[in-house]
Amino acid sequence: MKLFDVFPLFDINVVEGKGCYVYDDKGNEYLDLYGGHAVISVGHTHPYYVAKLTEQLNKLGFYSNSVVNKLQQELAQKMGEQCGYPDYFLFLVNSGAEANENAIKLASFHNGRKKVLSFKKAFHGRTSVTVATTDIPAYSAPVNQSENVVFAPFNDIEFVKKELATKEYCSVIIEGIQGVAGIQIPYDDFLKELRDVCTETGTILILDEIQSGYGRSGKFFAHQYAEIQADLITVAKGIGNGFPMSGVLINPMFKAVYGQLGTTFGGNHLACAAAIAVLDIMKDEKLIENAYNVGEFLMEELRKFPQIKEVRGRGLMIGMEFEEPIKEKRTKLLFEEKVFTGATGTHVFRLLPPLCLTIEQAKEFLERFKKVL
Ligand SMILES: Cc1ncc(COP(=O)(O)O)c(C=O)c1O
Repeated sequence: MKLFDVFPLFDINVVEGKGCYVYDDKGNEYLDLYGGHAVISVGHTHPYYVAKLTEQLNKLGFYSNSVVNKLQQELAQKMGEQCGYPDYFLFLVNSGAEANENAIKLASFHNGRKKVLSFKKAFHGRTSVTVATTDIPAYSAPVNQSENVVFAPFNDIEFVKKELATKEYCSVIIEGIQGVAGIQIPYDDFLKELRDVCTETGTILILDEIQSGYGRSGKFFAHQYAEIQADLITVAKGIGNGFPMSGVLINPMFKAVYGQLGTTFGGNHLACAAAIAVLDIMKDEKLIENAYNVGEFLMEELRKFPQIKEVRGRGLMIGMEFEEPIKEKRTKLLFEEKVFTGATGTHVFRLLPPLCLTIEQAKEFLERFKKVL
C-alpha cells in the first residue's frame, strides 16, 4: 500500500527533536520556528513530559469513558485554574476540528437554532460542520455546503449586529487570532461588542483558540486581551505537545444531556498524562510570559527589516507579509539555513515556535533570516 498523497512534502525525514530543534535522518539540525504547526508548546522531548508519559504508559494507556478517570478531573482542575475559567466544564476529544464540531453542536442543542455566523477567511477544521464554517471553498465537498452558515467580514460589527438581530443563529465562531488567514487579529473593541450582541440575542459565542490559545499569544487565550469571556472555548494543538488531544471549555449554564456528546478515545489516560505534564511545565517554566517577551523581541526586530511589508502578531504567533511571493525564500531558509517556518497563502511567513524559544534562539533565527533576505 502507498500513502494517499494529500500534502506537498519537503524532502526531509525528521527523526528526533529536542527543545526548539529537530534533526533529520542525515544528522542535520534545524531550528524549529514552526512547532509542527503550533503543536509543540513545551518543546520537543521535554524530560518531564517524557517521564510522565512513560510512567503512565507503564500503568495504563487506555480505558473507555464508561468509568471514572481521575486524570481527566486533575486536568480539568489544573486547566481551569491556569486559564482563568475555573468554573467552566471540560469535554475532551481528539482533534481541533472535533472540538469545534462539538462546540457548534452543543450551542445548537442549547438554543435550538440552526445558523452559524463565521468570518471571512476563517479556518475551523475539515469535518462536516467545521469545514462549512471554514471560508476556503476548495476544502468543502458538495455534501458539506450549507445554507446555515454565513460569513461576516472580519471586524465588521455592523454586519454582525444585523445578522444576529434575526435571532436565527445558534452561535458565532471566531478564532482568537486568525491563523490560516495570515495572522489577523480581531480588534479588542470588536470582540467586546461581539460579546455584548451575542448576550443580547441569545447567541452562543464560541472562541476557537486551537491555534492562538494555550499561551501562544502571550496570554493563556488570545481573546483575553479584549477582557471578554466566551461561552465555549475550543483548545487543541499545544494542549498535548504533540499527543493528539483537544477539548471544549463549557460555560456552566450548559446542561449535559446523556447521549448528545460522546467519544471513544477522547480524554484517554495517556492523553491526559501528556496534557497535565504540559500544564505543569508551562507553569513551572513561566512559558506564557516567555512567549510574550520573546514574541515582542522578535516582532520589534523583524519590523526593522525594510523588505517586510508588515509584521503582525501576539506572543509567538507571528505573521510576516511580503510584497512578493515567499516560496523561494522559505525553501532557502529551510534547506540552506536549516530553519523550519510556516506559510499562509503565497505572501505570508508564519512563525509558531515552541513557547520555550529563548532570546538567543530568536537571535539565531534573525541572523539566518537576514542571510536569506
Ligand atoms: C484555528 C483552527 N481551528 C481548527 C483547526 C483544526 O484542527 P485539527 O487539524 O486538529 O482538526 C486548526 C488547525 O490548523 C486551526 O488552526
